[in-house]
Amino acid sequence: MPRPSVPPIRTAIVGTGHIADAVHMPTLRSLGADVVVEAAMDVDTNRLTAFATKWGITAAYDDLAGLLKEAHPDLVIICSPPVFHREQVLAVLDAGAWAWCEKPPVLSLAEYDEIVAAEPDGGPYASVVFQQRFGSGARHTRRLLSSGRIGRPLVAHCQTTWYRDDAYYDVAWRGRWTGEGGGPAMGLGIHQIDLLLDLIGPWSEVRGHAARLARDVQTDDVTTATVRFETGALATVVSSAVSPRQTSYLRIDCEGGTIELDHLYGYHDDDWTYTPAPGTTPEVIASWKPPGPDEPSTHLPQLTTLLADIRAGRRPATSGPGGREALEFITAMYKSAFTGRPVQRGEIVPGDPFYAAVNGGHDIR
Ligand SMILES: NC(=O)c1ccc[n+]([C@@H]2O[C@H](COP(=O)([O-])OP(=O)(O)OC[C@H]3O[C@@H](n4cnc5c(N)ncnc54)[C@H](O)[C@@H]3O)[C@@H](O)[C@H]2O)c1
Repeated sequence: MPRPSVPPIRTAIVGTGHIADAVHMPTLRSLGADVVVEAAMDVDTNRLTAFATKWGITAAYDDLAGLLKEAHPDLVIICSPPVFHREQVLAVLDAGAWAWCEKPPVLSLAEYDEIVAAEPDGGPYASVVFQQRFGSGARHTRRLLSSGRIGRPLVAHCQTTWYRDDAYYDVAWRGRWTGEGGGPAMGLGIHQIDLLLDLIGPWSEVRGHAARLARDVQTDDVTTATVRFETGALATVVSSAVSPRQTSYLRIDCEGGTIELDHLYGYHDDDWTYTPAPGTTPEVIASWKPPGPDEPSTHLPQLTTLLADIRAGRRPATSGPGGREALEFITAMYKSAFTGRPVQRGEIVPGDPFYAAVNGGHDIR
């Protein structure tokens, strides 16, 4: 039966750089009549004009206030540098629109909580782009874990070992506490950390290290952490910008089998493997097979879910408490690295210097 026609979600893009052009626009266009991009904004007018021309967007603005006042979008996708996310998300909510903000969401827990406080009950809400949670492989693994079919998670490894050269850090906002909030854990590893926490969280205690080993940056270029979860499970977390053989790797050893995900920037079902513990019956192993269809962890499944949330007036999974977990974990890891002691989940509250800034005002020695 044809779907009754519903008006498209009227969307605007803020920040018309790489991710907006290479990922968000193709994703939005793939959704056909469900969504229409009516406006774009960037402070770099050359880039804005090229983007608007390429994608046929007639309403182009060099200030967000003008866009919100004239275009009245339902949804604003924020793809500007992280230092602008807080003020732009707040402006979008104030104008009565939903915000979908690229990671890292903001520069501190204080900024994040300010946004949550600005969300009215029933929406609009501000959510974070955490596309790695939304592929069919993660959805399947989440079901395997929550159903108990693969047993309790016991030990995990979460690795974002990537390679970013000095040229990558030439962009003014990268590699600076006040520009990106942190090192590769904030800028790169946040996706895999968010996925780990979503699958086996909540965590209870973290011990971290941070070091600047090879890049000319103000932040670290490598962090390591050991984590205890509320269930008692243990994990290691590594985020690196100096690793020539790059991988995004997640491994969860459960009572009944080992779950592994090995990919780089996004996965298919085939990138997940499930290795049974000795004695597992063939019937049980067969029940671990992803049912299909394979939906890779691009921005598409998260955007589709978000559009349904907007139409239903429902809080998105990566908004409010659900979008805060990775930021709190990373902040706690840095607090441990800078103070030399373990940090408990929930201890970083207003008044703590690490609440106001991920590095708590410290610098890497
Ligand atoms: N989800 C992912 O997998 C993923 C991947 C890459 C980047 N990102 C995130 O996307 C965001 C943008 O990254 P990028 O690689 O596209 O960077 P980019 O430098 O290519 O683009 C940023 C754009 O924002 C514009 N800009 C600067 N100040 C602005 C302002 N005040 N208002 C509006 N626009 C402004 C710049 O002129 C530029 O066009 C970052 O937060 C980044 O971490 C996410």
